Amino acid sequence: MISDKLIHKNSNYWDNFYKKQLINKESSFCKKIRNELQGDFIVVDIGCGLGRDSFSFAEEGYDVFGIDGSEEAISTNKKRVEQIRPIGEVYFSKVDLSDQKSLQEILTVVTSKADLENKRIILYLRFLLHAIDVETEKILLDTLVENTPIGTCFVAEFRTAEDAVRSKVYDDHYRRFVETDTFLVELINRGFSVNKFYKGTGFSIYKDEDPFLARVIAEKR
Ligand SMILES: C[S@@+](CC[C@H](N)C(=O)[O-])C[C@H]1O[C@@H](n2cnc3c(N)ncnc32)[C@H](O)[C@@H]1O
Repeated sequence: MISDKLIHKNSNYWDNFYKKQLINKESSFCKKIRNELQGDFIVVDIGCGLGRDSFSFAEEGYDVFGIDGSEEAISTNKKRVEQIRPIGEVYFSKVDLSDQKSLQEILTVVTSKADLENKRIILYLRFLLHAIDVETEKILLDTLVENTPIGTCFVAEFRTAEDAVRSKVYDDHYRRFVETDTFLVELINRGFSVNKFYKGTGFSIYKDEDPFLARVIAEKR
C-alpha cells in the first residue's frame, strides 16, 4: 500500500519545484526517439513535468497527451498551449500514477483516438521511473499494458543502480535507482519485447552532473 503521506510530500515537492523552474528545451532522449520512431504516433508523455518534450513532439506535429501529478506543472502547461499553439494537438491532465482509474480514463481516450486515426501510441517516460516507488511502477505498468493495443511502443530513460554512487545536483526529494535487469523482466513478463536497450553515461549531462542512465525502447506484442 502506497502511503498517502509519501504521495502528498512528493507532489508538494514537484509543485514547489515547478514554481521556480525555467522551461527547458527538448531533452536529448526526445530527439533520439523522434529519430528512431518515425510515423503516425500519438505520444503519451507520462510524468511530463513542464512539458519540455510534450511541446517538442507537438511542435513536430505529433498529437500529445501529457500527464503529471503536479497541479502547478499542468496548469502552466495548459497556459502555454494557448500561447504556443503547436502544430499537433496537445492535452494536459493532472493524474497521480498510483490512481489506476484516472490513468485508465486517459488511456481509453488515447486508444480510441489512435484507432480512429489509424495511429500508433508511444508511451514516453523520461526521468519518471526513478521518481516513483516500485509499487507505483507496478500499478503503472499493469495499467499501461491492460489499456493499450498491440504495437504500442514503450520508451523510457531513467537513473540506474550504477548512478547511486555518482556525484549529483540533488535536493531532498524521492528518488530511487532502478535495477535494470529486474525492470526489463517486469516489462517482458507483461508482454513487451525489448527492441533496444542501452545504459551508460553521456546521455543527459546537466551542470556538473553526468548521470548513469538506461534507455529502453520496447513494443507491446
Ligand atoms: C524528474 S521529473 C521529469 C519531468 C519530465 N519528464 C522531464 O524529463 O523533464 C519527474 C516527474 O514525475 C512526476 N511524478 C512523480 N511521481 C508521480 C506520481 N505518482 N504521479 C504522477 N506524476 C508523478 C513529477 O511531478 C515530475 O514532474
